[in-house]
Amino acid sequence: MNIIALHGGLDTSRSRSFMEILERAALDGFMLLAEGRVPAVEAVLNVLEDSPNFNCGFGAVLNMDGEVELDASICDGETGRFAAVAAIRDVRHPVSVARRLLEETSQVVLAGDGALQFARQHGFPEENCISEEQLDAWRKARESLARGEKPAQNLYTGLAYHGDTVGCVVWDGKGLTAASSTGGCSLKLPGRVGDTPSLGGGVYATRLSAVVCTGIGESFVETLTAKFVDEKIAGGAHPQQAVELALRRLAELKGAEGGILAVDAQGRIGSAFNAGQFPVVVMEEGRVRRDFEPVNLRRALSAH
Ligand code: GLY
Repeated sequence: MNIIALHGGLDTSRSRSFMEILERAALDGFMLLAEGRVPAVEAVLNVLEDSPNFNCGFGAVLNMDGEVELDASICDGETGRFAAVAAIRDVRHPVSVARRLLEETSQVVLAGDGALQFARQHGFPEENCISEEQLDAWRKARESLARGEKPAQNLYTGLAYHGDTVGCVVWDGKGLTAASSTGGCSLKLPGRVGDTPSLGGGVYATRLSAVVCTGIGESFVETLTAKFVDEKIAGGAHPQQAVELALRRLAELKGAEGGILAVDAQGRIGSAFNAGQFPVVVMEEGRVRRDFEPVNLRRALSAH
């Protein structure tokens, strides 16, 4: 048995066109699963990084200076290896740079110019990741700020619709791998790094679980939420119970919204969120599970 589960980011649209891209990404991952879990998660996230619909790669949100700076990571639970790039510019597939770092070095995080230099040395071409839509939204936001007004756009998407970090977890019957990719949050300070390259914050994998998170990066970093999910699974919780406990804890500690997706070493899935939307696709043995829906805890958590 094998599982590929991925999400398109907190409050990203669940319309057909978005779900179709997620399903195509899952299929691309499945086609590479025989080569390994890391090639599979890379293939999944590359599809989303190519699409302007998701806040990663091309079409990611812009920072305060009008630049795209991307974070991405891969964590393999079987080998205990982790690698990430942070605040990297002019690269369309940061998760592929993270894979090169994972496979060709023993270092774990490269940031900024160093990450860019590593990418160029490994043949990654210079690519402009700024979409027209994001540039237009950024200009409007800066105009609002210049007038002393709060930008009307969503901080995590830069746009009228919402969307955040994308992530993928894979179980191939032998081990577990997690990977995430993001543009972070709109109008962030240049150099700001979120939870995606934060091991145990927004991403984690062990021999027992693989976990990816989406939402306000700082709140995941400060609560080590991905690690909390793994600890609960290690203690015997079903992944669904673990992600729901983690979201309740996140809401209590930080008052934050989030989305979490996890799979364990029995191929059991957990997925929950406390926001408007959370598009998730679960593929089992190459087939999309039509019965799977993440649990929305928004009402339950806002009652507290
Ligand atoms: N979840 C995206 C970020 O805050 O970096």
